[in-house]
Amino acid sequence: MQLTNALASLILLAAAGVKAAPGTPVQERQATPTVYAQFFNGGGCQGPWLDDTVFAQNTNDCVNNTISANYGSTFFSGNTLTRTLRLYELSGCPVNQGRFFDLVPGQQGTGCFAQHIGSAKFV
Ligand SMILES: *[C@@H]1O[C@H](CO)[C@@H](O)[C@H](O)[C@H]1NC(C)=O
Repeated sequence: MQLTNALASLILLAAAGVKAAPGTPVQERQATPTVYAQFFNGGGCQGPWLDDTVFAQNTNDCVNNTISANYGSTFFSGNTLTRTLRLYELSGCPVNQGRFFDLVPGQQGTGCFAQHIGSAKFV
């Protein structure tokens, strides 16, 4: 069920990309870059995962992570981002509080991160 929701989000994003007018630049006509995140109970992305979400590169705003499961780590895969996504421990993307880590574009920006994700923002 959780995977279905994420796939539905991806399909909606793809559909949104298709709807762009023919005159728009190539970059805008392509599907929105995304990265898929799975939240695991353990600290090393082991065992069954609890919830998932898709981070879409379609805003410059801070996006709070609304996953409420008690997760210990997050595994990122399917990274088609072209910009770095900064993931903050706290919500509201605070500059001088809490920790953050950066997810770089492409294949290198995949893997397991054992930090709570309160919010995210493209930098
Ligand atoms: C995100 O969380 C922060 C801190 O809790 C809050 O101030 C802000 O309004 C939230 N943003 C959105 C878009 O919900």
